[in-house]
Amino acid sequence: MTTTASLPGRVGAVVLAAGKGTRFRSERPKVLHAVAGRTMLRWVLEALRPLGLQRVAVVVGHHGDDVRAEAETAGLDGLVVVHQAEQRGTGHAVRVAADAGVLDGLDTVLVLPGDVPLLNAAPLGVLLASHAGQAATLLTTELDDPTGYGRVLRDADGRVERIVEDRDADEAQRAVREVGTSVYAFAGGELAGALAALRSDNVQGEEYLTDVVELLRPVAAVRADATVVAGVNDRRQLADAGAVLRRRILDTLMRDGVTVVDPAATYVGPDVVVRPDAVLLPGTHLEGGTRVEADAVVGPDSRLVDAVVQRGATVGHSVLLGASVGPGAVVGPFAYLRPGVRLEAGAKAGSFVEMKQTVVGENSKVPHLSYLGDATVGRDVNVGAGTITCNYDGRAKHPTVIEDGAFIGSDTMLVAPVRVGARAVTGAGSAITKDVSPAALAVERAQQRTVPGYADRGTSEEGS
Ligand code: UD1
Ligand code: CA
Repeated sequence: MTTTASLPGRVGAVVLAAGKGTRFRSERPKVLHAVAGRTMLRWVLEALRPLGLQRVAVVVGHHGDDVRAEAETAGLDGLVVVHQAEQRGTGHAVRVAADAGVLDGLDTVLVLPGDVPLLNAAPLGVLLASHAGQAATLLTTELDDPTGYGRVLRDADGRVERIVEDRDADEAQRAVREVGTSVYAFAGGELAGALAALRSDNVQGEEYLTDVVELLRPVAAVRADATVVAGVNDRRQLADAGAVLRRRILDTLMRDGVTVVDPAATYVGPDVVVRPDAVLLPGTHLEGGTRVEADAVVGPDSRLVDAVVQRGATVGHSVLLGASVGPGAVVGPFAYLRPGVRLEAGAKAGSFVEMKQTVVGENSKVPHLSYLGDATVGRDVNVGAGTITCNYDGRAKHPTVIEDGAFIGSDTMLVAPVRVGARAVTGAGSAITKDVSPAALAVERAQQRTVPGYADRGTSEEGS
């Protein structure tokens, strides 16, 4: 990874994140829209992280407090937030940062928009390396359809002259396919002077950062692939960027030995860990800090948020939120495991089983149609179909303990707080309100009454 360690002087960055993002048609600022598990702003800050910059100034404005909070959660060294009260253009945004003094003492200033989630550190390293001796270096790209982007105008010798915005361009200029990406490196000393000279006599009445290009010399340009520098201005581009980011994550996993049966239908967040020889079946969503160990099989159609799936476990058609699945354990189909759930090795949470704040011991089975909340289940326990821990009395939650080797009959109501001792048995259909001692049988239900010939009794007029 390229770092600024190889570059002379002090390098900082300005991230432009004050705009509303009108084309998103959203109350939420554009840079706070999430894509592939992170906000756009966070993706940009993560691209900067490996560079180890002296300072990273984030310019906020529209819903500035929210954007500030998101910038701060990245926990980047040297982060400062600058407020641009009125959004008077990209040039104005950088000028506000310069006026606030946060660029003082920097030899090189990177500028990035907040809406380039596809960016990573590699092209920034190339940009910085090419910047030596330049007043400005632009990151540009070539697009089949450059509509909406600023066009890079070069002279007869191919040297960059200036950038013209789409809306200010004439027909010949619009035909140019090389565009500015809003990513630049500037010589710190010269940037401030150029910003002071910016005017807003253009179609949008804004101070364009693109206009500093013709004020600075010498200017160089570095071309990057569009798949790394494309801006996101509307929700279609957001979805397109999401597909690229997701595929990047999956490509890394597959290269490292994870089987992804259908990458187009698999969604893995940037902070998820999946070990080699795990298998992800279609419709799998792995989010947050989820970890999936070797030989585990997840999917199809499962959502795991901050979950752990140990070696050889399987999870199918299920939702896991903050749950942990032990080695060789089986989850699903159609299980819902909520925070605080831990299945130990070889345990099972089968179909239509919901659990919350519950530990299920080794080789214990909860195969069908059960709710366990605030429960501690020992090892080798069988929990019959339809068992429910009645953990909530309308005021407080109470614990249930089921000790090793117990057998819970089908449709048992365990009214907490309650304890079922080791190897004890509960009769099917019992409402258990008192502790059951080890090895005992507890049955709580009315005696069965059988009425012979009931069906033949006078149901018709003649018979009565
Ligand atoms: C900008 C460039 C265009 C380039 C394109 C690349 C200008 C004038 N145009 O256009 O040449 O091809 O990016 O994607 O620079 N922002 C502020 N304060 C403001 C205005 C904008 O912080 O007053 C921020 C926005 O939040 C956004 C970034 O600057 O993150 C870029 O603004 P945007 O409106 O998306 O610029 P484009 O029209 O895409
Ligand atoms: Ca943009």
